[in-house]
Amino acid sequence: MPENLLKGKKGIITGALDENSIAWQAALKAKEQGAKFVLTNAPIAMRMGAIKELADHCDTIIIPADATSVEDIEKLYDEAKEYLGGNFDFLLHSIGMSPNVRKGKPYGDLNYEWVQKSYDVSAISFHKMLQVAEKKDILNEWASVVGLSYIAAQRAFPFYSDMSEAKAILESIARNYGLRYGKLKKVRVNTISQSPTKTTAGSGIGGFNDFYDFADIASPLGNASAASCAEYIVTLFSDFTRMVTMQNLFHDGGYSSSGITQELIDVFMENNK
Ligand code: NAI
Repeated sequence: MPENLLKGKKGIITGALDENSIAWQAALKAKEQGAKFVLTNAPIAMRMGAIKELADHCDTIIIPADATSVEDIEKLYDEAKEYLGGNFDFLLHSIGMSPNVRKGKPYGDLNYEWVQKSYDVSAISFHKMLQVAEKKDILNEWASVVGLSYIAAQRAFPFYSDMSEAKAILESIARNYGLRYGKLKKVRVNTISQSPTKTTAGSGIGGFNDFYDFADIASPLGNASAASCAEYIVTLFSDFTRMVTMQNLFHDGGYSSSGITQELIDVFMENNK
């Protein structure tokens, strides 16, 4: 196992809700690899309490912030800078929520106020985190900013509803802010397109369990877990990936490049005997 990949690095990890969260696993891995960071989540998520355990384990603090609020992000950066004693080397955006998905609205009957909310929480908040970072000049040279995406940004998945467009916006922000921030200060910005993962956000999607099983047999390596995603995130925060920016990186056991697998054919044939 590599050691101390993030030694001396400081940052912010959003989105750890419980131990299933991708961000929770990322925090454990970042801590193990020597990083110092602050945890943050929406004030409502903090009331659920589990994140306190993670903060204790990681020997850090939690600063509540609604990622749709520029004022909250400004306060988060100011307080985190004071606590960490300097500017940041990494930011993890691990935030997603669609009221339409949550409330089971079909794609042909979307509530447009909720659509705005989905985009604001799941995508525009990424731009806000980057823009506030730029205005405050709070990122060090070669800092790495990572957001979490899903393949429904490129291909149609009936159950993913308005989150598909949210992820397409998120990935576009990574490209456009990556271009800007790379020129400005050598900051890199990428998204990781992750396998279906059994988390609160993931499991809230209709038919998730069936699709999870489908993706597992459609991927030569099987679905990537939250823990392995955390390892990938750490490599992107490390100095070993310095020239990677403006990318959407598939971390999905090969799903995005698979046409069909023998296992899928076998299941289909078995069911049609
Ligand atoms: P999760 O439910 O553990 O994490 C989502 C987080 O977003 C929660 O901690 C929640 O409190 C936070 N959040 C929601 N609204 C917020 C707001 N206004 N301000 C600040 N934080 C807010 O689920 P998971 O799966 O770990 O989600 C993390 C990211 O990974 C999301 O972007 C999600 O779309 C993405 N992703 C998840 C996949 C899955 O199958 N679980 C697959 C591909 C991507």
